[in-house]
Amino acid sequence: MGDRVSNTASEKKPLIDLAAAKYRQHYIRNTALLVAGIVIALTAFSVRLTTTEYTVRSQKIAAPVRLALITDLHSCYYGEGQKTLVNAINAAKPDLVLLAGDICDDEIPNENTETLLKAIADRYPCYYVSGNHEIWSGEVEAVKEMFRSYGVKVLSGETESITVNGQTLNICGVDDPDITKYEHGSLAFSEQLSAVSAATENGNFTLLMSHRPELVIEYDKRSFDLIVSGHAHGGQWRLPFINAGLISPNQGLFPKYTSGVYQLENSELIVSRGLARESTRLPRIYNRPELVVITLESEKQWQNGKSRSASLPTP
Ligand SMILES: [Fe+2]
Repeated sequence: MGDRVSNTASEKKPLIDLAAAKYRQHYIRNTALLVAGIVIALTAFSVRLTTTEYTVRSQKIAAPVRLALITDLHSCYYGEGQKTLVNAINAAKPDLVLLAGDICDDEIPNENTETLLKAIADRYPCYYVSGNHEIWSGEVEAVKEMFRSYGVKVLSGETESITVNGQTLNICGVDDPDITKYEHGSLAFSEQLSAVSAATENGNFTLLMSHRPELVIEYDKRSFDLIVSGHAHGGQWRLPFINAGLISPNQGLFPKYTSGVYQLENSELIVSRGLARESTRLPRIYNRPELVVITLESEKQWQNGKSRSASLPTP
C-alpha cells in the first residue's frame, strides 16, 4: 500500500516540474519580447535632439569656421527657455548660426522661436532665409521683421561677407520659391539665385542658404561652394539599414535629398533633417530631430596633416 502511494507521488512530480518549466520559459520569452518592443518603440519614435557634425574642406578656407545649421524648427518646444536646443548650440561653439527656413510655422505661434532668438542672437552672428511655411502664414514680411528685431540678418536674394577667425566668407541667401505666390513684387527664386551667385566671382568661399534641397538643377547652374537646406524633414520616416527617407514634400516617395551630404556637379549640398517634432502630422520614425554643425576646414592643411600622419611610423 505504502509503495503504491510513493509511486503515484513520484510519477506526478515530473509533470509539475515540466509545467513550471514551460511557464517559466513562456514568462521569460514574453518579458523579453515586451522589453524588446519597448526598446524598439522608444528608439523608433524618439524625438530627442541629436547633433550631427560634418566637415567641408576647401582650398578657399585658411582658418576653420564652425557653422550651426538650424532648419524646420516650426516653433517647436525644446524645454523651458528652449534650453535643450540652446545648450546644444552653445556646446557646438559655432562662429555663425544659419537659420535656413521654416523656423516659424504657419499655424503655431512664434513664441518658441522668439525664445530661441533671445538666447542666441546676441551671442552669435545669425542669418535667416524664409521657408515655405513662413510664406504660407501670409505674414512673411512680419516674420522677417521679427528676425531683424533680434539682430538676425535676413537674406532675400542678398549676400553678406563676414570675416571670422581671419577667414572671409560670402553668405548668400534666397527666399523659398513660394515667395512670389504670396509676396507680389518679390524677386523670383531663380532671379534671387542669379543675383547672389555673382558673389562666387570674388574668390571667397561662398555658402548659399536655401530652404529647399531638391532644386539641384538650379543650384548646379551656379558655382556655390556649399549649399545648406532643410525642408525634407529627413523623409519623416527613416528606413533602418538603408538609412533613407520615406516621403517628403516636393520629392514624393523615396526622396533623394533628405539628410546628409550630397556631391553636386559644382557644389556640395548639406541637408538637415530639421527640428520639427510636435508640429508634424505624422510622427518621426527612426528620425531624431537634429542640429547640424559644419566645420569649414582648409584642404591644404588637411592634406599636410594626412601626409604627416601617413609618414609616422606604425607604433
Ligand atoms: Fe519647408
